Amino acid sequence: MCGIVGYTGESLEAEEILLDALKRLEYRGYDSAGIALIDEGEGVVEVFKRAGSIEELKQGLPPVKSKTGISHTRWATHGVPNDVNAHPHTDCSGKIALVHNGIIENYKALKERLIAEGHQFSSDTDSEIIAHIVEENYHGNLLDAVMKTVEELKGSWAILVIHAEHPGEIVAARHESPLVLGKKFDKVFAASDPTALLKYTDQFIFMEDGQIAHLKDGTIALYDLKGKEVEPIWQRITWSVEDAEKGGFEHYMLKEIYEQPSTIHQCLQGWDEGALSELNIEGTRSITIVACGTSYHAGLVGKYVIETFAGLPVTVETASEYRYSSPKDFSSLHIFISQSGETADTLAALREAKRRGNETLAITNVMGSTITREAHHTLYLRAGPEIGVAATKTFTSQVVILYLLALYIGKRRGKLLSEEVEGTLREIKHLPRAVEAILSKEEEIRNLAEMIKEATSIFYIGRFVNYPSALEGALKMKEISYIHAEGYPAGELKHGPLALLDSSLPVVAILTDDHTYDKMLSNIGEVSARGSPVIAITEEGDREVVKYTEHVLYYPKVMPILSPVPVAIYTQLLAYWTARLRGCEIDKPRNLAKSVTVE
Ligand code: G6P
Repeated sequence: MCGIVGYTGESLEAEEILLDALKRLEYRGYDSAGIALIDEGEGVVEVFKRAGSIEELKQGLPPVKSKTGISHTRWATHGVPNDVNAHPHTDCSGKIALVHNGIIENYKALKERLIAEGHQFSSDTDSEIIAHIVEENYHGNLLDAVMKTVEELKGSWAILVIHAEHPGEIVAARHESPLVLGKKFDKVFAASDPTALLKYTDQFIFMEDGQIAHLKDGTIALYDLKGKEVEPIWQRITWSVEDAEKGGFEHYMLKEIYEQPSTIHQCLQGWDEGALSELNIEGTRSITIVACGTSYHAGLVGKYVIETFAGLPVTVETASEYRYSSPKDFSSLHIFISQSGETADTLAALREAKRRGNETLAITNVMGSTITREAHHTLYLRAGPEIGVAATKTFTSQVVILYLLALYIGKRRGKLLSEEVEGTLREIKHLPRAVEAILSKEEEIRNLAEMIKEATSIFYIGRFVNYPSALEGALKMKEISYIHAEGYPAGELKHGPLALLDSSLPVVAILTDDHTYDKMLSNIGEVSARGSPVIAITEEGDREVVKYTEHVLYYPKVMPILSPVPVAIYTQLLAYWTARLRGCEIDKPRNLAKSVTVE
């Protein structure tokens, strides 16, 4: 995820402070870095930026004596990682420099307007347009110009803006992308998270959505969107740098689980139908989804969803098997799902699918990754880097992308009416709130983890769209807690696994208020009759399941086909707390790697 830092103070050490603070944001992951400094002597803004590491940026950097500047680490979302797409961005005059985190949804329309007005752009980013709009709105007052600019933006942003004619000034604005301000004596700072600044101060203002801040000559003034000054709330933060990198969470995995309301929101905001305009949907008779691990489970959810919304038959294959399968008599649209975009088995399968003459679509989180260069079309998750080896936030984003894709295909094939698409989209937009509600139930989940932490084996069962949820729940559990766990379609229990059930083997049963509900209840009956403790995950309002078990985790009412998202939050937290209570090393489980680049 991008990181931003801003500094202004009396001493001429902006360059040193900005690079040092930026390095502390490296843990967020990035592919390029840059810095802009106001050179008062020359009356200009100097911008240095490049693809690669902060160390590489430093090597080509002349010493600039400056008391004001901004810096940025970029994690590409619009435009590949390269020197021009790196931040800071400038306007036509070269006097304004800007760094941005977030996504500007209406950037295409704004860019077209600006081009028609004569603006010239050098990057493919959505961010660059903001510098040009500030330029349009600038009539001598930088704060006013930024205030007017944000009125025109749709999407999410944390921005910092400087101007060559305003040494000692930074204007900061926040909307749905975090931004903190800090102060110590004459030095004032801004950053995307406090980690960057802990070395310099422990006094912070956490900006709220819609706020704009004016950092000037050692002071900070805060305004709301209407330009009315608001009283800042100062907070003292005494985290260690390591704590802060994890945002105060004990592990990256937990932090990433908690990021999901915003990563799902970002995924929805970043949905780009334009990327699919060339897709030959009308000509395809079936869809094949290929992936590994957690991405494969997202693909399985995709099967039910695409078949429901778009009426096309879908097969899902693990990438390591696909390459050795026999070619089919007809081609189909092949969807390759890979968080990293670098998994060797998935890439090998992609090459094989292309060799067989199929059209290919990649779904990935990493811009510029190998998969994006080789597939015909690409959709991005925009979930920010995932550091915990066990995939969490990227799974829910993959599932959300597959909902959007299924709706899109359904609409293009004439299977869904616009009203149906709109209605489902409204439901999808409620998912971040449903996820938030579950995150507030950590205590309950922890208690259940206490109950199962000594088990040597755990089963997960579900049906239809929650059969993949059962597989993913079991995978999370085995990956990080090292407890043997299996996911089954609930109807399969009686064909073998039932033989293993007794009071020492807990079963996690996933229910949804759909056509499978009654059958799931009878499966739970079969399980509890064998004495196995049952943990049920079901929708709020379910009054039946309590007749079979007292251990029930409720998720807010959602459209049944969307339930894998809230369910995943529960299974992730259950795995996390079980692993933690067992003292396991959660972020780097033994024998596993985040990105498996060997076959
Ligand atoms: C590894 C990781 C899993 C991941 C799988 C596929 O096994 O440990 O968490 O699901 O690779 O990775 P991809 O990057 O292709 O989604």
